[in-house]
Amino acid sequence: MTFAVKRDSILVVDDAPDTREVLQRNLAAQEYQVFTSPDVAGAIKILNSTPIDLVITDLKMPGVSGLDLVRHVRENFKDIEVMMITGYPTIEGAVTAVKTGAEEYLTKPFTDEELLSAVQRVLDKLHFRRNTQVQSSLKLPASYGCIGESEAMQGVFGAIDKAASTSATVLIIGESGTGKELLARAIHYNSSRASSPFVPVNCGAIPQELLESELFGHIKGAFTGATETRAGFFQTADGGTIFLDEISETSLSMQVKLLRVLQDKEVCMVGSTRSRKVDVRILASTNKDLLSLVKKGAFREDLFYRIHVITIELPPLRRRGDDILLLIQHFSAKFATEVGKGIPQFSDEALQTLRNYHWPGNVRELENVVQRLVIMTDGDLIEVPDLPSLMRFSALRETGFHRTLAEVEAEYIRNVLGSVNGNKTRAAEILGIDRKTLREKLKIS
Ligand SMILES: Nc1ncnc2c1ncn2[C@@H]1O[C@H](COP(=O)(O)OP(=O)(O)OP(=O)(O)O)[C@@H](O)[C@H]1O
Ligand SMILES: [Mg+2]
Repeated sequence: MTFAVKRDSILVVDDAPDTREVLQRNLAAQEYQVFTSPDVAGAIKILNSTPIDLVITDLKMPGVSGLDLVRHVRENFKDIEVMMITGYPTIEGAVTAVKTGAEEYLTKPFTDEELLSAVQRVLDKLHFRRNTQVQSSLKLPASYGCIGESEAMQGVFGAIDKAASTSATVLIIGESGTGKELLARAIHYNSSRASSPFVPVNCGAIPQELLESELFGHIKGAFTGATETRAGFFQTADGGTIFLDEISETSLSMQVKLLRVLQDKEVCMVGSTRSRKVDVRILASTNKDLLSLVKKGAFREDLFYRIHVITIELPPLRRRGDDILLLIQHFSAKFATEVGKGIPQFSDEALQTLRNYHWPGNVRELENVVQRLVIMTDGDLIEVPDLPSLMRFSALRETGFHRTLAEVEAEYIRNVLGSVNGNKTRAAEILGIDRKTLREKLKIS
């Protein structure tokens, strides 16, 4: 996403022929395209007929003054920078120039260097502004807040449409960080339940002994510590949607209770003998292969069939082609705006490296990487050396096949670990091995 170099064009306006000539010669020597005019009237003619990037104008000229020209440019040409030359080194002159909209001013006499560095500064600002404008006005193809144009994601969007038009239970399958929760929200907010609550529950993060009372509520005195009667997530979600995130993490006894809710549309608060009707749509997600859990007896088969009425599978990021580039663009604009910086550009090589990386942590990993780059990179161009080292190294090795399986495995393990911030339990899950095996592999690599 680098832009082709175009010669900047500069219009010099000064009534003194000597000054015009000096400026013309100096700027032309730097490859700028230079136009000149001895007065404001001539300058306006040129502005109307020629694309100009920067106007350098004298302040004091017979007839119409330089300040009027600055005003004219500011009011009529938003995308042209102005620089003022004053022969009177007074604070007022400078202040007026800047207030009227001149980006810079130079006081006579000035050296060639002073002139050229001021011109460079102004033009840099202009380019930066233009690039950010181009980027922020680009329309990203987004559906339901999910960025994606790839065929794989088009399929997902189609499935969201269908799922949103019914109240059927949906099972969302996808690797960690692929956007399962985002998808669940999309289904809810595009369904007829949109004006009722969407309640996400992370089944893996709530201790199993608390999950029942969290989900169904409890009555006062149901257990030690239950000093008040409290509603659960299902009551909160009444009329809306509950999202059972990581449903594979629920205990078998919890699964029986969930099955009952699905079948009878009733919940029973902990400590109560009375069930109450709830009207809640259930969406569930998993990053595990539920069917193999069913075979192992770790997940109830009847619940499995109940929840996967509609199944939507989110493809991993590495199978979404150029969506990676769209997401980089999306997140760099988002984080740059958040921290009040201009939106950075990426060199073609940097984009290629990011595009080729295998993203074990998927969109969440990409989001974190772009956030770090936006915050940590000083310039407005992000290049390969700015990227995390594990990506640079995998880019270097793109060419040829000369690594052993053990090396490839070791690198992959390190990448997965990096993507989950060193969390070994999570890494082992993603790798499909147990923690002990992971520890052994780490010792070897
Ligand atoms: N297609 C997308 N477009 C824009 N942002 C996305 C997209 N997919 C995911 N994200 C963003 O990536 C992050 C991770 O998404 P989300 O939490 O939905 O993933 P997940 O599959 O639930 O992850 P986990 O398995 O770790 O819970 C979120 O910040 C989300 O907004
Ligand atoms: Mg999630």
